[in-house]
Amino acid sequence: MNREKAQVDRRVFTDEAVYRAELQQIFARAWLFIAHESQVPNPGDFIRTTMGEDDVVVVRQRDKTINAFLNSCPHRGNRVCMVDAGSKARGFICNYHGWSFGIDGKLRGTDGKVYETDEAFEKSEIGLTPVARIASYKGLVFATFDPNAPDLTDYLGDFTFYLDIMLDNDEGGTEFIGGAIRSEIDCNWKLPAENFVGDILHAFWTHQSGAQAILGGGVDLGKRYDELAFQASVYGHGIETNLDKVGNTRTLGYPELVDYVFDLSERAVERLGELRARAIGAISSATVFPNFSFLPGQNTFRVWHPRGPNKIELVSWTIVNKNAPDHIKELYRKGVMMTFSPGGVFEMDDGENWEYSTRVNHGFVTRQQPLHYALGLGTEDKSRELPGHIHKGSLNDANQRLFYTRWSEFMEHDNWSDLQNGETASPKKTNIAAE
Ligand code: FES
Ligand SMILES: [Fe+2]
Repeated sequence: MNREKAQVDRRVFTDEAVYRAELQQIFARAWLFIAHESQVPNPGDFIRTTMGEDDVVVVRQRDKTINAFLNSCPHRGNRVCMVDAGSKARGFICNYHGWSFGIDGKLRGTDGKVYETDEAFEKSEIGLTPVARIASYKGLVFATFDPNAPDLTDYLGDFTFYLDIMLDNDEGGTEFIGGAIRSEIDCNWKLPAENFVGDILHAFWTHQSGAQAILGGGVDLGKRYDELAFQASVYGHGIETNLDKVGNTRTLGYPELVDYVFDLSERAVERLGELRARAIGAISSATVFPNFSFLPGQNTFRVWHPRGPNKIELVSWTIVNKNAPDHIKELYRKGVMMTFSPGGVFEMDDGENWEYSTRVNHGFVTRQQPLHYALGLGTEDKSRELPGHIHKGSLNDANQRLFYTRWSEFMEHDNWSDLQNGETASPKKTNIAAE
């Protein structure tokens, strides 16, 4: 990222060496989203995921805590958990030579008597490798491979103020419903991450026809632009939002959901204050650095898992308020499938753009031309009492510039004190109760 010229070097989207450095500098250090607590409610419940390209299994323990381990047998490395999710497992048995592990990751047994008679074999020293740290924020479980990483709340910083729009707008918290949707897109992982961190600009063009199909022929998304809209960014996490309350929710196609958000309003104002209550279903999108994104109001949560410089595996879920009525939850599930699933009207629009952006950036001459990220230079708004770097309007590249600034901080700095005190840190501590 060239901050002065607001340019991004295209090689970050295609270069193999850059990608390998990202796995080390970003994915092996950052806190990464691994599960929603609701996915593993009981001891022995588990899901399989990845952190970067590392296969991981997340398991609810007997003492109700959640732990996560590399999903790789310490014998020859085979995957020990083959399925995507399951419940009430007592352990995992490796297919290759039959070593078995408890849900605490410890080696419990080996096939036959071979190891038992091997005096040098010390069973208690062998097990699945746990992640270095694991922690939850309001139902979202994150983990990091870096024992020196700061606490999760410090990593998220003031961005929790904005996460709460989605996670804490009603009592009872949230849950994921209906399983995970997996798909592959031939694009670099940063393109969707930067799209969700602050690219509402594309929606008015890319998604115009899809929105018209759902909302009716006369709709003009551009006209929904809101003068109070803003972008907020902390440590490269970012949200861009209008304050129209239901703009995103409307595009799910069910008027009952719009009514639900309006019914929620009074309670949401009590919990979040007037401003954030106007964002719970508004035209908005967000990314938690590096690769975890969501859409308030459209209720899709998703991770862009890197699979090489030119490929991602997209895993997405539907999130709902736990105490929403069952028929409302079902409408959210249907609405998300209709819009943000591999067959959904909006997701299909996006995938093609990201694939061509990745493929074309690879050209030898093309990749030497920098990309333009200069929309909204000089729009920082220091007057609003909101946490983070605030920029006026949501049609702005500000959050994307801060996303790539954070990316550079991770790639360049080896210690966390430099990482946490850089340019992307929140510029001020705000009295959030005032909002
Ligand atoms: S690789 Fe797992 S038991 Fe041999
Ligand atoms: Fe989009």
